[in-house]
Amino acid sequence: MLTYKNLSKQDPEIMDAVNRETQRQSEEMELIASENYVSRAVLETMATVLTNKYSEGYPGKRYYGGNQVIDDVETIAIERAKKLFNAEHVNVQPLSGSPANAAVYMAFLKPGDKVLGLKLDHGGHLSHGHPINFSGMLYNFVQYEVDSETGKIDMEEVRKIALREKPKMIVAGYSAYSREIEWKKFKEIADEVGAYTFADIAHTAGLIAAGEMDNPVPFFDVVSTTTHKTLRGPRGAIIMCLEKYAKQVDRAVFPGMQGGPHEHIIAAKAVAFKENLQAEFKEYAKQVMKNAKTLAEEFIKMKYRIISNGTDNHLMVVDMSSKNLTGKEAEIALDKAGISVSRSTIPNDPNPPMNPSGVRFGTPAITTRGIKKAEIKKIAGFIDSAIKNKNNESALNEIKQEVKKMCLNFPIPSV
Ligand SMILES: Cc1ncc(COP(=O)(O)O)c(C=O)c1O
Repeated sequence: MLTYKNLSKQDPEIMDAVNRETQRQSEEMELIASENYVSRAVLETMATVLTNKYSEGYPGKRYYGGNQVIDDVETIAIERAKKLFNAEHVNVQPLSGSPANAAVYMAFLKPGDKVLGLKLDHGGHLSHGHPINFSGMLYNFVQYEVDSETGKIDMEEVRKIALREKPKMIVAGYSAYSREIEWKKFKEIADEVGAYTFADIAHTAGLIAAGEMDNPVPFFDVVSTTTHKTLRGPRGAIIMCLEKYAKQVDRAVFPGMQGGPHEHIIAAKAVAFKENLQAEFKEYAKQVMKNAKTLAEEFIKMKYRIISNGTDNHLMVVDMSSKNLTGKEAEIALDKAGISVSRSTIPNDPNPPMNPSGVRFGTPAITTRGIKKAEIKKIAGFIDSAIKNKNNESALNEIKQEVKKMCLNFPIPSV
């Protein structure tokens, strides 16, 4: 247990907030697909003196003195990530997923270049060309969609759009898509039109690293991922690319996008990668996917509409209009029942993004707590009950007590 002796003495106000958040995370159920709980070792690493050091540049080529130890740390992180993803080149400095994607675009494109990405309300990410995001402002994004019948990406349709639009880059990898991605087909299409291939595996990286989902890293030009979702590391990101692009990617990250790297976080990434390379992590990834499948089956049994009718990964998007409420209403009711989720658009959503029709559910965090099939079935029951009782405060409070009881039986590892 971390004691925070000095923090509690020096700044009771912040200590109090940390304690309250620790309690919230311990007693409530985390079903937000992009969240997880880091191990104590990862947590401890983030609180080391490595935070004190400026190290602009790369191992062996820094703009500041005194970086011999930092070079070792960063090299360890790079080597572990290479092994984990079978990558030719890795940059471990990106501060988070969006800045990593900004660096990828900077490395391969010029402002105004055409890029093909999945539409946000179909499961894409803001940084894949949304007009209010830097990506949509700086680059000329054209978008593909999921098939309105199947909820899956139709590769023939992607091919047609690519042949028509002739983009310079094609982006695959998403925030709210529950199916396996046909990386090889994306690569074939990109080769046909002379486009770069960019995979953003922020969500599924842990499942890919564990060998449970297909890996685009060995043959895509460039791949980014956050390190804090299914990889269960610190908040941050990495970029992987073919060796021939190493220089341009490194230059885009520093000095293109960023200044000094956060070496305490890079060290924590290295610690997480070591965990990701263990047999236990493979078991974890398998269980994440089993849990997602069980949750989807339970929803289907209870007549909820799931986009694409199921899941191949760790998440699913549920259309709450099948239960006569919006995603926001569901999110609020579930919050009152001690269950955190994120509202989500559904493909061709008739409702606006702040009050969309869907809710995204994910199993990475609860699986880290040790939750398995029997509990998942109960959790599906809690969710259904909260939704049915969305206006009944005392019923929601009763569910919250049940949720808390279950959570306390499966402690989070980070405290
Ligand atoms: C596919 C994808 N890419 C990028 C990001 C952005 O990551 P960050 O929030 O660390 O900037 C996310 C975040 O959810 C994501 O889902």
